[in-house]
Amino acid sequence: MAGSGPSRILPDSATFDGDYLSIGGCPIATLAETYGTPLYVYDEATLRNSASRICAAFAPINPRVSYAAKACATIGVLRVLERAGLGLDVVSAGELDAGLRAGFDPDRIHLHGNFKTHAELHLAIRHNIHAVVVDNLDELIELQATCRMVGRRSRVMLRIALNLSAETHPHLRTSGSSSKFGIFQGSADLDAALGRICRDDTLHLIGIHTHLGSQITDPEIYRRAAEALVAAAGLFRQNCPGLQEVSVGGGWAVAYRPEDTTLDPETVATAVAPAFRAEPAIRLAVEPGRALVARAAVSLYRVGPVKKVVKKRIIAVDGGMGDNLRPALYGAEYTALVDGRAFSNPIGVADIVGRYCEAGDVLVREALLPEVSRGDLLCVPVSGAYQVSMVSVYNLVPPPAVVMVANGKATLLTRRATVDDLLAREQNSDSPSVTSSHV
Ligand SMILES: Cc1ncc(COP(=O)(O)O)c(C=O)c1O
Repeated sequence: MAGSGPSRILPDSATFDGDYLSIGGCPIATLAETYGTPLYVYDEATLRNSASRICAAFAPINPRVSYAAKACATIGVLRVLERAGLGLDVVSAGELDAGLRAGFDPDRIHLHGNFKTHAELHLAIRHNIHAVVVDNLDELIELQATCRMVGRRSRVMLRIALNLSAETHPHLRTSGSSSKFGIFQGSADLDAALGRICRDDTLHLIGIHTHLGSQITDPEIYRRAAEALVAAAGLFRQNCPGLQEVSVGGGWAVAYRPEDTTLDPETVATAVAPAFRAEPAIRLAVEPGRALVARAAVSLYRVGPVKKVVKKRIIAVDGGMGDNLRPALYGAEYTALVDGRAFSNPIGVADIVGRYCEAGDVLVREALLPEVSRGDLLCVPVSGAYQVSMVSVYNLVPPPAVVMVANGKATLLTRRATVDDLLAREQNSDSPSVTSSHV
């Protein structure tokens, strides 16, 4: 159902029966009753459709398309994207483990991140993953030592921080000379890294990589990144002929509200294609996260206390920054709809606030909403990326359940945590649980 207006931000299988929303043929009211709230609902159809659309958009230049697992590493979600034929980018042993459990062949997995522990490098080498994406010179030295210790070679890509500054929230910008990610283009460290790789047969350079940031709306910066990296790859190939791939990362903006600007995969493909057509020996790689999963999920909350302050209402819900850190972390903006009153006229603005003890725990600011009262069900669209994967246990509130819906059937992917789960690592508590019977 993605199209114009509100349908732009709902999952593909969303339908309305009057004012009541269903996803994947399942009424959200029933899902909330069955699994409780807060609840994350992923639509399998949207995941598949997004993967097909991205693959089709880039198909003319035969890319490698990988999913950046950090956007949502829930195994049931990874499984759908594995079956869609994508590769996987991981940044930790945990994400690597989830990817392997979801069925990804190690040969389709890349290990990213600016701090890979010795154990993580070891794991990547032992599983013979497709490549370790080396972030800095120190890590390269550590990787060489680990390879020697294990007695194996490793394929590597080098992450290069380009001298390009993406227009996005500063917390979402990952390029430039002072970025914590990557080796700056043209720096002495880059020369030193290339020199080491060329002199040492434990490492095999297969590609170079950049990731400019996230929620980027300008295709031009991808064109410039592709041109810069393809030119650099041409030079590096003189000493490292195995270098065959250039990754321009992910970061394409999605709409969180109907009026938001997006950067569609077709537009990115058009922007980067000329650089790759000019250099057929180099293959393009892309690694979207958000564009694959964000619109695939909604979050559901039960309304608690509602109060009136000057000029607006404050609507408290049973979730918040523990399951969606994005508004507090970088001012992310959302909309919400009230199930059963989806098309009712708004009566004014309201802040939807979470239950956590932080004044910044505001999920949606100044939403135009109809009448809302305790017990209503609120749905926040575009909840599929960087929410479930960033859950915290702040205030010792158990993280929510995650379900997947398709063809009128819901499948539990992650059960709701319990207070016992949260306290399980505590070492000095042998008293019996007081919550297990009633929370
Ligand atoms: C190296 C790398 N690749 C890809 C991504 C995915 O970005 P997005 O989810 O914005 O597409 C990220 C996100 O942080 C990243 O760090």
